[in-house]
Amino acid sequence: MTNLVQVKERIAELKKELTAVIVAHNYQRPEVQDIADFVGDSLELARQCTEVDAQTIVFGGVRFMAETAAILNPDRTVLLSEGNAGCPLADMISPDELRQWKQRYPRAAVVCYVNSSAGIKAESDICCTSANGVKAVNSVANDDILFVPDQNLGHYISTQTKKNMILYPGFCYVHHRLKPEQVKLAKQLHPDARVLVHPECPPEVIALAEAALSTSQMLRYVKASSHQSFIIGTEEGILHRLRLENPAKSFYLISNGQICTDMKKTTLEVLAQTMELRQNIVTVPEEVRLKAKQAVDRMLAIV
Ligand code: 13P
Ligand code: SF4
Repeated sequence: MTNLVQVKERIAELKKELTAVIVAHNYQRPEVQDIADFVGDSLELARQCTEVDAQTIVFGGVRFMAETAAILNPDRTVLLSEGNAGCPLADMISPDELRQWKQRYPRAAVVCYVNSSAGIKAESDICCTSANGVKAVNSVANDDILFVPDQNLGHYISTQTKKNMILYPGFCYVHHRLKPEQVKLAKQLHPDARVLVHPECPPEVIALAEAALSTSQMLRYVKASSHQSFIIGTEEGILHRLRLENPAKSFYLISNGQICTDMKKTTLEVLAQTMELRQNIVTVPEEVRLKAKQAVDRMLAIV
């Protein structure tokens, strides 16, 4: 299947055959976002997956996202668009290691970023995304919070809560490598631009930004803003929707390295093949799923 039109037609046919819905994260390739029924951030996609009227959910994203869909939808088939698309941040902590940290901090409630495996969610009290971290942390009774796995999101939340936050030292390579010097240079080049960054960026980068936002919060911020130009500190896939929804506004990246390799593994051909072969089915062992679901449900109940 080399012809793009044919690939798109085949995906449309397969959607009917599988009674499938295709959801895609804001970081997916533009052509994948364009054929998706729904595009959003981690929180929106988690919610959307509980509301879809479909037998099969085809997830354009990375493994933890499809796993969250599987946790919430035991009666539906969840296909991950590309079987090898993982999240290096999510893979930084194992359930065994988290159990050791829990023993070290027995009084702490565990709040896990949604960018984590089902096994980590099952060991956590509540889950959060970059859009609702402060609310999730404040919703638990404990004064001490063990936050896993992203140190930068954890640090950002700690600046907005009175809780004592213990941070696991994980990071996302795409965001963690952004430097304050690069932001300063981008500001010099585009002095009228607002700087919007993802909370996975280091604190020194967030300190230079007008706002730290999840991907969909960024989209809403830009739409509502009277400003005309923006410096963006997150994965470059977000530019597609930003430009589509705001054709008169200008967008600049902080660096040319804002690319998540795993998010880019999904092409239309790969997606079509996954649907054709009904492959990359994501399942979570029932015992783990039930525990992980509690942490995800608690998050969905507070936001
Ligand atoms: P969002 O929660 O903003 O969708 O971000 C997910 C992610 O993977 C960030 O790197
Ligand atoms: Fe994971 Fe970072 Fe890619 Fe998001 S951008 S999926 S956190 S590696």
